[in-house]
Amino acid sequence: MDNPIRIALAKGRLEKQCRALLVRAGYDCAALESPGRRLIHTLPHAKAAPLEAVLSKAPDVVTYVSRGVCALGVAGKDTIMEQGGPFYEMLDLKLGACRFALAAPEGTAFFGGAGHKRIATKYPDVARRFLSGLGVDAEIIRIEGSCELAPLLGLADAIVDIVETGDTLRENGLVILKEMFPLSARLIVNVAAYKLRRGEIDCFIEALKGAMASC
Ligand code: PRP
Repeated sequence: MDNPIRIALAKGRLEKQCRALLVRAGYDCAALESPGRRLIHTLPHAKAAPLEAVLSKAPDVVTYVSRGVCALGVAGKDTIMEQGGPFYEMLDLKLGACRFALAAPEGTAFFGGAGHKRIATKYPDVARRFLSGLGVDAEIIRIEGSCELAPLLGLADAIVDIVETGDTLRENGLVILKEMFPLSARLIVNVAAYKLRRGEIDCFIEALKGAMASC
């Protein structure tokens, strides 16, 4: 028998919804409910082959799938747009809906005026492309955590970040200047794995589509 198909799952904001989707698709995700410090878990299925789930940070999901150590991955479109890579984006899972936005402290005169603008972001490539499309001369400052802090500390004029409820912006006195792209979680598939195990992967995708339809 072939090894179980390995799927990388992003820890964090998508984790719970992704687990619920896998449960609806028939996988026993008990091991993911309280994973402890263990990072690889087998997810049995009553009627299909088990999956091997790898828990990792979202950018690593993209790396593992691009490099073929995981056949499948679930990651946000935000991470996919930032990192790119050789993989198939097979399915919009419609989970974790949010959007990219350019935001700044209320009252900021961001557009117009001379000189460059300092932009804090966890998504430097996305921000660079977007601001260059707007004709803004931008200095991109990479931040790893809450980039909403950067304008408050005087480090940046504005931020490019994902916005879901808008609470973080509101509670820190920031407003959206421009909405960018709508985002959600995607199933990504390694190119070689799809050639070699297409039947199994297509069955898994059908199971996910069924689970999505039953919501
Ligand atoms: C994201 C994002 C914002 C916040 C937006 O961070 O970077 O800070 O969520 O969500 P909201 O519109 O619902 O307030 P996340 O919570 O993923 O944590 P992180 O800062 O650790 O990346």
